[in-house]
Formats: sequence, structure tokens, C-alpha cells
Amino acid sequence: MKLHLPDASDLHIMDRLLDAAREVRLNAYAPYSKYQVGAAILTADGGVFTGCNVEAADYDGTHAEESALSSMVGAGKRSPVLLAVFGGLEGDPDPGSAPPCGKCRQKLMEFASLSGHDLRILVQDPENREWRVALLSELLPWSFGPANIGVDLARYRR
Ligand code: THU
Ligand code: ZN
Repeated sequence: MKLHLPDASDLHIMDRLLDAAREVRLNAYAPYSKYQVGAAILTADGGVFTGCNVEAADYDGTHAEESALSSMVGAGKRSPVLLAVFGGLEGDPDPGSAPPCGKCRQKLMEFASLSGHDLRILVQDPENREWRVALLSELLPWSFGPANIGVDLARYRR
């Protein structure tokens, strides 16, 4: 895998995160869409938290990124720095990166605002499947956040 990275020393952790996302995707419960998603979050202190999509008959399921965020918060962590997401139809032998949807971008931005780290997201160019690192601020510019409603999150930082 070729990555366009500012710092090649990050390669090991990126590979670890990609493997974790690819692996948790296999546990996704997606009988309705048949589209399985796996997400893995690296936190500032080196923790890795994973999640997959969990669908339900009411069509109001949980997205993989939401699930990974819940796992992170449940473990007492609030500072994500890197995210990997894989998506593909059930049985896809070679799933690729899946861009987080708008709702997930907003939830991820919550923790970027809280932590002060612009989240890096591993994405694949849909044309040639080359990997690169995107910033959440690129994926969700002009975002709505705590400052817009006059909320100071300082005491919620961990
Ligand atoms: N999905 C995610 O898990 N994350 C996203 O951000 C995009 C969509 C899931 C929801 C649903 O279970 C399936 O992918 C098809 O939309
Ligand atoms: Zn989503």
C-alpha cells in the first residue's frame, strides 16, 4: 500500500489501524443494506477503538464510526487523532475505504473541537485506490460546533 504521508514513521500505526478497521468490518450486522462498515480510531495516547455498523429492522441503525466513537468514550478517551474506515458489500473480498457520512463527520468533529486535534482520516482515491491522509476539516469545512452556541468544552477534555 502506498501512502502520501508527511511522515513515513507513522506507517506502522497506520497499517495497524487499517487492519483493525478491515477486521472489525467482518462483524458488521447489515442484513438490510448488506453493506458492511468497519472503523478504527487511534487516540492521542495510542489507544485503538473499533466499531462496525449495526442495522435494525426500523432502518435506524448505528454507523461504524458512531460505534467506534462510543467505544472510545466508554473507555474514558476523548481525543481521536486518526481514523480508518473500510466499507464493502457482504462477501467483498477486497473492500476499500469508505468516507464517513455527513452525520458521522459531525460527530467526529465534536471530538476534534473538544480535543483540538484536526482528525486525520485514511482515505483511498476512488479512481486509483491510492491511499492518502485527509483532514476532517477538509471533509467538513465551516462546521457548526460548540463555539457557535457559546459552549466552552474545556472541562470535558481528557
Ligand atoms: N454506514 C456507516 O456505518 N458509516 C457511514 O458513515 C456511512 C454508512 C452504514 C450505515 C448502513 O448500515 C450501511 O452503511 C449502508 O448505508
Ligand atoms: Zn455515518
